[in-house]
Amino acid sequence: MPADENREVPEHVAIIMDGNGRWAAARGRPRLFGHQAGARRVSEIVAACPGLGVRYLTIFAFSTENWKRSRAEVSGLMALFRRYIVKEAQRLTVNGVRVRFIGDRTRLDPALVRHMDTLETLTRDNDQVHLTVALNYGGRDEIARATRRLAAEVAAGRVDPGDIDACRVERYLDTHGLPDPDLVIRTSGEARVSNFLLWQSAYAEYEFVETLWPDFTAEKFAEVLAGFGKRERRFGAVRA
Ligand code: FPP
Repeated sequence: MPADENREVPEHVAIIMDGNGRWAAARGRPRLFGHQAGARRVSEIVAACPGLGVRYLTIFAFSTENWKRSRAEVSGLMALFRRYIVKEAQRLTVNGVRVRFIGDRTRLDPALVRHMDTLETLTRDNDQVHLTVALNYGGRDEIARATRRLAAEVAAGRVDPGDIDACRVERYLDTHGLPDPDLVIRTSGEARVSNFLLWQSAYAEYEFVETLWPDFTAEKFAEVLAGFGKRERRFGAVRA
């Protein structure tokens, strides 16, 4: 769904949470120590959203490319996601957070997928904050999966190729029904998009901050949001 307003506060913020490994290395600790600290920061940022006026938060937890990491790091991250879901389920539910997961679930451990499904079901009536967790997610992979499903509809004679427009494609994306991100933040000083929400970020504003993710406090989040309010978004039009 395209964003279509000039807002003071972004309705939808997406975050590439980068820098956990460097944060841990700076303390002489293993990478997973950084990911654990990163998970605590996720909770703080989610809790800050209602007070800051952010209704949709999407976070990049694990990319389709992250499987290239060591087996120990990948399994440590998967165990962390599972523990996080179990530990935070109650708090997310009572705090009115609706949780969704995007990405390809077929490569994930079935036990983890069951926890993900349960959390989605538990929180599906919540409306205070919409938290979307990208897990085994890649923008190109999402578009390829959407295209495959759409092509199957065409092959079955249910969709006329002449009717395929951006609106129709959007219906097949993992993010179907969510507003497009207004602001994409990447922490740790890297200025890359890394295959995150490629379709959805067509008109997003980007903010690359130096802070490593485990140091990205609610106060820093508020500062970045304040900067967003000063931007003029034109969505391809000229200044009125
Ligand atoms: C990038 O930092 C971070 C990740 C690939 C994992 C993100 C995961 C978390 C923040 C953990 C908790 C998440 C949830 C949803 C509970 P990096 O490891 O690439 O850091 P580096 O660039 O310094 O090596």
